[in-house]
Amino acid sequence: MSKPAESSANLMESIVSLAKRRGFIFQSSEIYGGYNGFFDFGPLGIELKKNIRDCWWDDMVRRRDDVVGIETSIIMHPKVWEASGHVGGFTDPLVDCKASKQRFRADQLFFAAVVVDDTTHGYVSALESEDTTADLQAAAEKVKRKQALQGTLAPVVVQEFTEATPEQIPLIPSPATGEPGSLTPPRDFNMMFDTNVGALRDGSSKSYLRPETAQGMFVDFKNVVDTGRVKLPFGIAQIGKSFRNEITPRNFIFRSREFEQMEMEYFIHEDADWETAHKDWIQWCWDWLVSIGLPESHLSLFDHEKAKLAFYSRGTTDIMFKYPFGVQELWGIAARGNYDLTQHANASGKPQEIFDEETKKKFVPHVIEPAVGVDRIFLAVLAAAYAEEEVTDDKGKTDIRTVLRLSPRIAPVKVAVLPLLKKKEELTTRAKALYKKLQRRYACFYDETGAIGRRYRRQDEIGTPWCVTIDFETIEGEGDTFTLRERDSMAQRRVTEQELLALLDEQVY
Ligand code: GAP
Repeated sequence: MSKPAESSANLMESIVSLAKRRGFIFQSSEIYGGYNGFFDFGPLGIELKKNIRDCWWDDMVRRRDDVVGIETSIIMHPKVWEASGHVGGFTDPLVDCKASKQRFRADQLFFAAVVVDDTTHGYVSALESEDTTADLQAAAEKVKRKQALQGTLAPVVVQEFTEATPEQIPLIPSPATGEPGSLTPPRDFNMMFDTNVGALRDGSSKSYLRPETAQGMFVDFKNVVDTGRVKLPFGIAQIGKSFRNEITPRNFIFRSREFEQMEMEYFIHEDADWETAHKDWIQWCWDWLVSIGLPESHLSLFDHEKAKLAFYSRGTTDIMFKYPFGVQELWGIAARGNYDLTQHANASGKPQEIFDEETKKKFVPHVIEPAVGVDRIFLAVLAAAYAEEEVTDDKGKTDIRTVLRLSPRIAPVKVAVLPLLKKKEELTTRAKALYKKLQRRYACFYDETGAIGRRYRRQDEIGTPWCVTIDFETIEGEGDTFTLRERDSMAQRRVTEQELLALLDEQVY
């Protein structure tokens, strides 16, 4: 019996535990107690991450004629971040709890009045969760019981802390202490990490770790146009680390302080139909997520309200994923007009225009920007792939197997090569020869220790799609065939080396 992701209350715990146990993800600086918001990727994790990156790069850059790639420096001229608006406005609303010294993001902190028979009897608060309304309702019921209030409790009306009035703030309890009076009004907190470049450590040497990769594409726009033989519409893509001093890093690698982004700026003519281009890119991103194994049942679209967008933005749609802790943003696809290029043109004094051969006029191209985090995809694929299922062996014994149903495109190990018996040299020699051959093109694993069933299970747990067993029929039978065991169905069949290579070629791309 399979336990699909959404029915497992402890799915997050299971994923974190598997990630550690099998060497996917470790806490950064663990021997020093860890470092909040930073993570290390272990031997299997880095393979999975590399596969996600490579699939994106192949599909986004190499297999398209209209997108080119670049890699820009993490530390850029500080004027880049002034022009882009990050120095002035890359902020999150911060709330301090003076009693506990904890900090919260005001847009992730919610409150509601406790109203009994039309009279307000104080407030309750809760941090954003899978069901914040239910949490606040339960808290309100608790207040009613504790204060022995008579009458009917009204359903809670949930408000973000950013909406709290100066009169309400002192009455709202801190989620850390449960007591009112310690929360400060929200204030803007800039999320950029700063550093100093050069020997001087004063304001003149202040610089920043980039909070997004996107600005690299805007700043190098002219370089690419002048050297790359690109013609509108075209895109510039980049994969790289970004850094944000998040107030509340949480949900494992979902929101961290150092993460990796895959962004693409798709430049279009100023008169082009941006809505169609925007829709096409949303569809492309959706299809790509499905191509690496995310089930459509876990995906949805969220259109940002126009009124809440920056003045220059024409529209932003997020592809949302149903994580174990709720539906959250995975990929943002923004139509940003020509804001960024215009900002850099104004700040640098270098025009960022293209010449239109038809109209003989110069203009600043507009841009569609699909921006996604590698780590968020990583967590999504783990959550969608993780399953525990009851299996019965030949002797009728039932057992729980843990399996990661990862797409062969991104699985860290594509095929495990297993000689049936370690002590039979003919088996190990043939297995090693096959292993060496496969290794030239695919990430493989050679394992000769333990019972064959246990070896299969070890591979199931790390998501290896196929195991190949070199058995007596291989060496004694005709045709040099192996047993191919499939991870998901656990079905076994005999294949030749040619058939195995054809299967890998078809499924791993
Ligand atoms: N250039 C636009 C931009 O950076 P964003 O929505 O701030 O937009 C894009 O970030 C994507 O980067 C997000 O959709 C998410 O996948 C990822 N991301 C952002 N902040 C993150 C964080 N703190 N930890 C992990 N991933 C993050």
